[in-house]
Amino acid sequence: MNTMNDTIKEIISQRQSTRNFSDQPVDTEKLVEICQLSCLAPSSCNSQPWRLHIVQRPSPKVPKITEACQTVGLNKFLNNVGSYIVVEQTFGNMKSKSGGFFAGNNLTPIDIGILAAHICLAAQAEGLGTCMIGSFRRKTIRKAMGFGPLRRVRLVIAVGYPSPDDKLRDKKRKDFGETITVTEE
Ligand SMILES: Cc1cc2nc3c(=O)[nH]c(=O)nc-3n(C[C@H](O)[C@H](O)[C@H](O)COP(=O)(O)O)c2cc1C
Repeated sequence: MNTMNDTIKEIISQRQSTRNFSDQPVDTEKLVEICQLSCLAPSSCNSQPWRLHIVQRPSPKVPKITEACQTVGLNKFLNNVGSYIVVEQTFGNMKSKSGGFFAGNNLTPIDIGILAAHICLAAQAEGLGTCMIGSFRRKTIRKAMGFGPLRRVRLVIAVGYPSPDDKLRDKKRKDFGETITVTEE
């Protein structure tokens, strides 16, 4: 049996952006569980400035979300996706807003990013593949979701079982010398 340490290492190193999904549908309960677990993520002043929308086939919103994410010919692989988690940014709380404002650091996108990482890793632990989608038309996605002009979609996460021929790719990352420094004195 894996130790906890090995398990988290495995989950992090095996997660990759899935762009080749199988047709196998995902249980709604599983997505709810992933979202609930991910909402344990930390956020500035515990503001939790998000609302997660699980959208599944056969909802007519699925093809509309797909279309909104296929700006300028991008993200063609989404045609096969049957489940999305749409991450809406909400207000959070005053304490986080003012703390971030006075420090000159907008903390809300950081909170959303941490949440998104939790979702992708929790999905990976359930044998699911994910792809975060940041490239979409803001107005079109709002329309797809039936949101008014004041609501803000920050990220879309495509979720599904990877196709059996979707192999683990080599990680292409900058040299650690470029991305990590160590200071001990
Ligand atoms: C904020 C964000 C937005 C992204 N948007 C897209 C996207 O629109 N389409 C896409 O195919 N991948 C998208 N990705 C996935 C990245 O391309 C991918 O994470 C990166 O190339 C590293 O590859 P890996 O996830 O397989 O390790 C996005 C990732 C992040 C974090």
